[in-house]
Amino acid sequence: MTEDQVRAASAAVPAAEAAGIHKQFGSTQALRGVDLTLWPGRCLGLVGRNGAGKSTLVSILSGIYPADRGAVRFDGAPAPALGAAGAWRRQIATVFQHSMVVPSLTVAENVFLGRQPQRAGLVDWRQMRDQAAQIMAEWGFSIDVNLACADLTVEQRQIVEIARALAAGTRCLLLDEPTAALERAGIERLFARVRQLTANGVAILYISHHLEEVFEICQDVAVIRDGELVLTGAATGLSKDELVSAMVGPNVAATRADLAPGGARPRGPATPAPEPCLVVDHVSSDSPGGRVTDVSLEVRPGERVGVTGLLSAGVATLARIVAGAAPYETGRVLVGGTGPAPGRRDLNLKAGVGYIPEDRQAEGFVAALSVAENATMTITDWLARVAGFLRPSTRAAAAAPLARRLSIVSAGLSQTTGELSGGNQQKVTVARALARQPRLIVAITPTRGVDVASKSLLLAELARVSDETGAGLLLASDELDDLVICDRVIVLVRGERFTEFTEPPFDREALIAASEGMARDADPPPDSDSEESR
Ligand SMILES: Nc1ncnc2c1ncn2[C@@H]1O[C@H](COP(=O)(O)OP(=O)(O)OP(=O)(O)O)[C@@H](O)[C@H]1O
Ligand SMILES: [Mg+2]
Repeated sequence: MTEDQVRAASAAVPAAEAAGIHKQFGSTQALRGVDLTLWPGRCLGLVGRNGAGKSTLVSILSGIYPADRGAVRFDGAPAPALGAAGAWRRQIATVFQHSMVVPSLTVAENVFLGRQPQRAGLVDWRQMRDQAAQIMAEWGFSIDVNLACADLTVEQRQIVEIARALAAGTRCLLLDEPTAALERAGIERLFARVRQLTANGVAILYISHHLEEVFEICQDVAVIRDGELVLTGAATGLSKDELVSAMVGPNVAATRADLAPGGARPRGPATPAPEPCLVVDHVSSDSPGGRVTDVSLEVRPGERVGVTGLLSAGVATLARIVAGAAPYETGRVLVGGTGPAPGRRDLNLKAGVGYIPEDRQAEGFVAALSVAENATMTITDWLARVAGFLRPSTRAAAAAPLARRLSIVSAGLSQTTGELSGGNQQKVTVARALARQPRLIVAITPTRGVDVASKSLLLAELARVSDETGAGLLLASDELDDLVICDRVIVLVRGERFTEFTEPPFDREALIAASEGMARDADPPPDSDSEESR
């Protein structure tokens, strides 16, 4: 047989199959009879709104949970017994949506977790380090494999997870939002690897809220809605609109409005500028997650200022400094005219900063607390306490409007936040930042993991709060779509202020070029501090 014939023969047997899978959590029916087939040499894109059941299916295909009903098969044979972790790992490798990196272990140990190279019955540490270093070099990342993963940024940790899954060498790979924290160059490298793997007969399941990614690398697409597959087909035969319609379902009236581009506001006549609610004055920080060098900017009440750049450009570091979540070496940060101590989030909260952090799992919410408790956690005023605010019913009443406006899907506001889907946990993080009527909102990639329909809702909510309460917004994001609600956008390159765009709508290509430090094709000239002198 020729190689093609061998491939064709093997392709007749699915690499992995989920047949009639049902899964219920308490009152939530997460999956209702899902049939999904992964074929050797093909990449299947699975899309759906937050809470649709994607990650639940991934967990069942990875042997994390049992299905209530239905069967999982690999290469036509029944899946290993639940709990036989080694046997599952030989069948399937998974990049989970929630970080599975062990913070106290090194990068090399995490890449080879559970399958360290051995010599004479002992772990061969040198080989493990060398192989891990080689994998990182292939990815073009200068991550020291001896570092503890606790010291890595969110993006670096995601690289470790992807490296682990790719290094496993299985015939079946599940990627649950693997690009959520990867910048363009990393995404390109991942896509090149995915293409190479499918060409070699590996079967891949690819989950993403970025539909253009799905069209870029998937041959097949499946749409899941409320635990049911509602559409499957070849990617070439489907349009983005058809996918979105299948995702949101027949409840069009509510969702069409959600999808309308919103948030950008027409420019009104110039009004006298009020005192800034945020002053960043020549701030520098040598943070390992991205250096910031001599950055100055101001945000006035009701103003929405975007900061963008490549992830390592210091965008997240700057926002963390402003939120009091990271220290800085030189310069000043003033919120509402006063300067909270660097690195003191509690003081920033008192000063009226609502913070949406980048790493929602570590800083965004407390998994064991309810949705209502998390959403209202920042309300700490003594008056609220005296008035009995901490009573569950009062909390739920305060959280309900925000939960509705942000389309948080849960079994109820008393549900534990750890049980929500990834995108819904992100929305709880946003609700927490907005609940206290902040004077300044600091948001880092606030729409990460949020589905296409909920994204515009979330951005519109940020815009509404800044309009109605006069809160300033500092929006740090590498998602250019997030920046549509901004009045102006500052671009950082290697930690320095590179240029500023002051005229919405912002040109995508120009923003990308500026982020890469290529063209200062923006107004005004780069060394003019326009907003400081307004
Ligand atoms: N351990 C759990 N306990 C209770 N409910 C759960 C649990 N895991 C998931 N769920 C519920 O099952 C449903 C499906 O969640 P799942 O995480 O599969 O969604 P998803 O499609 O991955 O969403 P996202 O795009 O936000 O990641 C949600 O309503 C979620 O709250
Ligand atoms: Mg998920």
